[in-house]
Amino acid sequence: MKKITIINGPNLNMLGEREPDKYGTESLAGINERIRALAKEIGFEVTFFQSNVEGELVTAIQDAGGADGILLNAGAYTHYSIAIRDAVAAVKAPVIEIHLSNITAREEFRHTSVIAPVCRGLVAGFGGESYLLALKHFAH
Ligand code: DQA
Repeated sequence: MKKITIINGPNLNMLGEREPDKYGTESLAGINERIRALAKEIGFEVTFFQSNVEGELVTAIQDAGGADGILLNAGAYTHYSIAIRDAVAAVKAPVIEIHLSNITAREEFRHTSVIAPVCRGLVAGFGGESYLLALKHFAH
């Protein structure tokens, strides 16, 4: 059974209440429920982690290094955290960068991802569906 870890960064614990025009009205628990249902269907074991703290995200990526894949929404850290980029580059597990919003259609400071160059790929702009699309990749 493939093991996939889903890691969410700062402010993603506030999904549902936070800027719903940009991120929708679904809570992180709701998105995780949909991920869990799809994982069950395709026979994956999924583990979830969320933190607002940069170093905790680095440790979570290291700890998930032996998984078959990582889905990472690093939130605002995406745009400037070299520590998170280095953690992604350090682990064997392939990492897919996730965003609910289309970061390239937003403010200029969100157009840069320092993490994307060390990720297998990036899924952005599909709300909670972004996680499901990326999870499906690991089924192939
Ligand atoms: C986000 C996009 C980031 O720019 C922002 O800081 C977030 C959420 C997204 O999922 O669309 O916190 O990662």
